[in-house]
Amino acid sequence: MSRDPLEEWPSFLRIPLDQALPEARPQGQTLAKHIWWDGEIKNAEDQSIHYYANALHYGTSVFEGIRCYPTPGGPALLRVRDHIVRMTRSAKLYGMALPFNIDELVQGTLEVARRNKAINAYIRPLAYFGEGPIDLKPKKQCRVGVFIATRELGSFLGENALRNGVRATISSWRKFHHTSMPTMAKASGQYANSVLASHEALDRGFDEAILLNQDGTVSSAAGENIFFVRDGVLYTNDESSSIVPGITRDCVIQIARNLDVEVVVKPFTREQMMRSDEVFLTGTAAEVTPVREIDGTELLTGRDTLGAVLQRGYLAAATAKDPNYGSWLTLV
Ligand SMILES: Cc1ncc(COP(=O)(O)O)c(C=O)c1O
Repeated sequence: MSRDPLEEWPSFLRIPLDQALPEARPQGQTLAKHIWWDGEIKNAEDQSIHYYANALHYGTSVFEGIRCYPTPGGPALLRVRDHIVRMTRSAKLYGMALPFNIDELVQGTLEVARRNKAINAYIRPLAYFGEGPIDLKPKKQCRVGVFIATRELGSFLGENALRNGVRATISSWRKFHHTSMPTMAKASGQYANSVLASHEALDRGFDEAILLNQDGTVSSAAGENIFFVRDGVLYTNDESSSIVPGITRDCVIQIARNLDVEVVVKPFTREQMMRSDEVFLTGTAAEVTPVREIDGTELLTGRDTLGAVLQRGYLAAATAKDPNYGSWLTLV
């Protein structure tokens, strides 16, 4: 795109940056010094995983992404327990016996955030099948290792993305079906599908890929859930469309319903999405990111859109500026 995005999307020109975003946020993704490694805080740089770890060869790890936000009471984690519960369910689907329970993993996540003095951070708990025989039955003989790593993270798709939206393309790669793999699990091997679609989007000059299901309905973006707005009604799909049912998605549905917005949850087609007024993406990393174009079709963005209202609502909840959602936050 040759035009300056601010010039191109003039509805944002009126928003001072400090009103559009919760705080000044880090630009980079600096890695934190300490890591929670099999139950203990260690120097992150000194840890390594065996080259014959089953997870490296066959994609057998499960993981989460959790955000830490600044709040008036200090840094807080957003829905940390829900993320850890989802990780334990992902592990169960892969026959992985986690050596730590939910409480221990929640405490570990808080501890690693605390030790690293995290403020705007992205925390990555990951459990993997370690070294063992060359075998496709890792649950028999491979040890399970768990770490919780953290890094700084501001706006994932760039500050302009939160304000001005991203350009998305429909991938030629289809989303794998929930009868082939447990799509509700966040397992590393399953992300090869997202990587292929993301690389294709990059090569085509777009910011993000949208994957369709085999039947032509929409699944999700490579790393986010999809919402669209038509005539003031909010639409999204659920696990019957082979999605990871996101925790951000759930936050947005709750915020919308509390604002008396009608929310319709059902499968939708590419055509329904393309004929809509607005499209936005939700995910822990991407937060609530508007889509300003899909393959040449322009969509509404700007501070008066429903997407922008929900983005502000989500960021207000995440930074404890809206007391209605205090139960989502755990102070570090
Ligand atoms: C494929 C996919 N869908 C959806 C999501 C959104 O999930 P959440 O909002 O829980 O981060 C993610 C991100 O984790 C994802 O990778």
